[in-house]
Amino acid sequence: SAAEKGGYDYFMLKEIAEQPKAVADTLLGRIGTDGRLTLDELRIPDQVLREVDKVVVVACGTAFHAGMIAKYAIEHWTRIPCEVEVASEFRYRDPIMDDRTLVIAISQSGETMDTLMALRHAREQGAKVLAICNTNGSTIPRESDAVLYTHAGPEVAVASTKAFLTQLVACYLVALYLGQVRGTKWGDEISSVIRELGDAPRQVEQVLGTMEPVRALARSLADAPAVLFLGRHVGHPVALEGALKLKELAYMHAEGFAAGELKHGPIALIEEGLPVVVVVPSPRGRSILHDKIVSNIQEIRARGARTIVIAEEGDEAVVPYADHLIRIPATPTLLQPLVSTVPLQVFACELATAKGHEVDQPRNLAKSVTVE
Ligand code: AGP
Repeated sequence: SAAEKGGYDYFMLKEIAEQPKAVADTLLGRIGTDGRLTLDELRIPDQVLREVDKVVVVACGTAFHAGMIAKYAIEHWTRIPCEVEVASEFRYRDPIMDDRTLVIAISQSGETMDTLMALRHAREQGAKVLAICNTNGSTIPRESDAVLYTHAGPEVAVASTKAFLTQLVACYLVALYLGQVRGTKWGDEISSVIRELGDAPRQVEQVLGTMEPVRALARSLADAPAVLFLGRHVGHPVALEGALKLKELAYMHAEGFAAGELKHGPIALIEEGLPVVVVVPSPRGRSILHDKIVSNIQEIRARGARTIVIAEEGDEAVVPYADHLIRIPATPTLLQPLVSTVPLQVFACELATAKGHEVDQPRNLAKSVTVE
């Protein structure tokens, strides 16, 4: 009913709008007054976490994209090797694990069969399993050694939005906490990122307040035959997520690429007028990545692409090559997906609506996939 949708036309719109609160609720009580993380709920003793020598993330769909971002965060802040794999592939290749492996299973519903079977396989091999889950008491957390709940509240729309942002928060918390208990050389950076995480709800709110031009752009692209998405570093999974949202909701051909892969094939797809969304890393931080992606934008634009550029405020280098510029607030490099994903959700939702699709219940999809 309209009341359940809180005055919005679709659950998806309501859930996109709820993201600042979802992020804030997922952080709540987990950052101590001393600026250190307290994740007592993890129930895996710090001693065990100190001995972990490999992390494996398993998840499906959007949760898998959160897992890809987790890998960057975990390897950077903890120096523990981390693999990430779609859950449906994991157990069939005889993966290598033992009691020093930490498996992280990410699932909004907690009922995804592929993810459940992957975690069962991991536990049989002696690995410790930590679930990141949005549904209290669901099967995946019940069968895991520990759980870190995301507090997005119920997500009704089939396309995951607020759950994804909270999965990112949970992944950052786990990565930072592992870094904190293990004491890496990134101690100062970890403390400052923990502080900046506290600012994420306000930044997401800020992005949501600037989405009108993104909606107008989406409506103008309703007849586009395809949309490509490019990103690098943590922007790569964001590009994949932007493409997945468009496939699910608008039933359009949409593909995400690592921008550096363009020249190895996908650049052949570029033709006059093709919309290409580019997620640009911060020019602060690793500026080499920024400069390389600016070259990519130039290259595709020279070949006729219509460039839709998502870039940090104050990044002037992209301005000459952006047909459409979407600004996001400056964040630490690894946290950028918390803000860069939001315009892509709005874009897909609006484009699907313009095409007349039912955004809450896309064809052929179920909210929770309980078959393998
Ligand atoms: C996201 O928009 C999708 N509907 C889908 O990819 C989903 O993220 C995936 O099926 C995993 O679901 P889960 O998080 O409930 O395990």
